[in-house]
Amino acid sequence: MSSSSAAPMSPSRGGAEEEDEEGAARTSDGSGGGTVFSYGEAGYWDARYVEEGGAPYDWYQRYAALRPFVRLFAPPASRLLMIGCGSALISEDMVADGYTDIMNIDISSVVIEMMRKKYFDIPQLQYMQMDVRDMSIFSDESFDCAIDKGTLDSLMCGVEAPLSAARMVLEVDRLLKPGGVFMLITYGDPSARVPHLNQPQDLGSRERRKDLSSILSH
Ligand SMILES: C[S@@+](CC[C@H](N)C(=O)[O-])C[C@H]1O[C@@H](n2cnc3c(N)ncnc32)[C@H](O)[C@@H]1O
Repeated sequence: MSSSSAAPMSPSRGGAEEEDEEGAARTSDGSGGGTVFSYGEAGYWDARYVEEGGAPYDWYQRYAALRPFVRLFAPPASRLLMIGCGSALISEDMVADGYTDIMNIDISSVVIEMMRKKYFDIPQLQYMQMDVRDMSIFSDESFDCAIDKGTLDSLMCGVEAPLSAARMVLEVDRLLKPGGVFMLITYGDPSARVPHLNQPQDLGSRERRKDLSSILSH
């Protein structure tokens, strides 16, 4: 799924709707000029979340806009993985809409602590600090659905972007149950994102892909 907004990420405050075309030309995923930002680094996000003081922020879209797609592909009984959850309200909004089991992960320990405190009384929401490129704490085929809104985009702005993307996609592939769904909400053009998403099937059997994921994660 692509975001309806084509706006890029920016190192400055705010999300997609505040950005301009110039930023798009500065990503390192082949869509632009190649300057590398630190969106792929935990330190960048930690500092940003400290600065924002825990204020909620949803990149690209709120749940209300995404709901028709989410409800279509992931019924409320689904076990969900929210990748790079940040301070977004989407998981809270999904619980209000009937979802009962959402595991939220993010590389930033700062935002994970903030979200844990904020939602300590909502058992449907769990938060763990984790790098999406190594989710080995979870067993194979643990989730019905994985949602990423802006995290692959962050990795694509970092160093070794294609390798990071491959590691992420292989981990998601490993964690999804057969028939599971990966929803990607991204500013990236399909030509810059779909090749990464297609990698698992290009790599052969599910068992071989799991082996590769394990090798790349360590
Ligand atoms: C653009 S923000 C999107 C946040 C949220 N998903 C939203 O929709 O508002 C990207 C998020 O990905 C997280 N992130 C970046 N690299 C990551 C990685 N390797 N593993 C897990 N999370 C990562 C950042 O900490 C940040 O919270």
